[in-house]
Amino acid sequence: MQSQDIFDRGNWGSKLAFVFAASGSAIGLGSIWRFPIMVGLNGGAIFVLCYLLSVFFIGFTVLLAELTIGRHSQKNLVGAMILIKPGTPWKGVGYMGIITGVFILSYYSVVAGWAVGYFYKTITGAFRGEVTWQASDSLFRDFAADPLAVVICLFVIIVITTFVISKGVKGGIETWSKILMPVLFILIIILSIRAVTLPGSGTGLAFYLKPDFSAFNLNVLFYAVGQAFFSLSLGMGTMTVYGSYITKKENLVSSAGWVCFSTTLVALLAGIIIFPTLFHSLHLTPEQFKQEFEVSTGLMFQAFPIIISKMPGGYIFGILFFILLLIAALTSTISMLEVPTSYLVDEKKWNRTKAAVLIGTIAFLLGIPSALSNGGVNFLTKANFMVIMDLVFGNIMLALGGVLICLFLAYSWKVKNSLKEISIGSKRFKLKTLWTFNIKYLAPFAVILIIVFIVIKNIL
Ligand code: TRP
Repeated sequence: MQSQDIFDRGNWGSKLAFVFAASGSAIGLGSIWRFPIMVGLNGGAIFVLCYLLSVFFIGFTVLLAELTIGRHSQKNLVGAMILIKPGTPWKGVGYMGIITGVFILSYYSVVAGWAVGYFYKTITGAFRGEVTWQASDSLFRDFAADPLAVVICLFVIIVITTFVISKGVKGGIETWSKILMPVLFILIIILSIRAVTLPGSGTGLAFYLKPDFSAFNLNVLFYAVGQAFFSLSLGMGTMTVYGSYITKKENLVSSAGWVCFSTTLVALLAGIIIFPTLFHSLHLTPEQFKQEFEVSTGLMFQAFPIIISKMPGGYIFGILFFILLLIAALTSTISMLEVPTSYLVDEKKWNRTKAAVLIGTIAFLLGIPSALSNGGVNFLTKANFMVIMDLVFGNIMLALGGVLICLFLAYSWKVKNSLKEISIGSKRFKLKTLWTFNIKYLAPFAVILIIVFIVIKNIL
């Protein structure tokens, strides 16, 4: 089919198009849903600080590495490693990324499905009038515990994602991201202004922005690094595939910088909305919050209806917010499905639609236990299945993938070769020395040490 040939390996229209598309992959539930949960579970502002440092020193480093490998090879991670170092086991890192991606897609789509459900609820008027914390909390719990609803919503997400991917990346992602990401951004800014002007928002802001250094421990760092990988879509080859669509004219360094900046900004604003809203409606002090408040996987879904109900024109705001959240989530699920699909298309010469449908089906089936684990069917009663999947794949496997990508670039492909690729399109690379140090030493070894300590601490 001709249209498929055109889209199978196109290039991004322009630099801006790339930054939008890559930010579209990065900005999503990771920043708006996952980041606030991590902040809530890991001591508030101290986590935010560790996250910012992780993005700057590790996230940016690995992002630039993935983009460079992708553009140089014009391939997905498996293909790139075979091209750059044929006959070595490095391609295993690519396979690892593919598997990780399918697992992340499975539970990520469950949460994206919640956004579908909430979109529907908003339209049908569930959040009209004043929404209290108690009402919002039980509404979320009832919804997440309804097995049929959550599985249908999961199915909807997988079908849309599969459809877009089967049409090819260029047509699929570029158009959506370009128009809708800026709108989402503006909406989030408006909501954060409302949140900080709520009575009692000060305690929420203090919890969120005033670090309590005594709360620092290795777990905080571990989750902060994991969150940096997750929110920037790193460690499994997503950004390698995206990099493979960038033309030689573009500046990889500034593109990577923009993606880090926009993603971090959205995450920070999501927190600015959620914590003041929570503290406002719960009347808690930061200490009470740490001791008494149960941070659930639904944190964002519990908090947003409250703040939306406090906006003039809340009904329209709510509809707009959940549809944009849905789109932000979809641009991310699309990028996740693109990794295994482009592998099967490029390396195994599969038909794009067939590849997308197969992987989509697997992700759907893998997603069912996660969908049911938030109150629907309590297998693994205490430890939520979705939380375990997220720990293993969203934190550990991404971090490991990121480490291996750094080691591959620094010690196998070699930094000097990657710098040649980077210098095409970016004449001056001011952070060259820092990046070289980070990719060779800081990023891989800091992450390895953190993982080793965490494993020792939890197993022994
Ligand atoms: N970064 C996205 C988000 O924050 C999620 C995502 C998309 C992702 N592709 C990825 C995470 C690849 C890890 C790896 O919502």
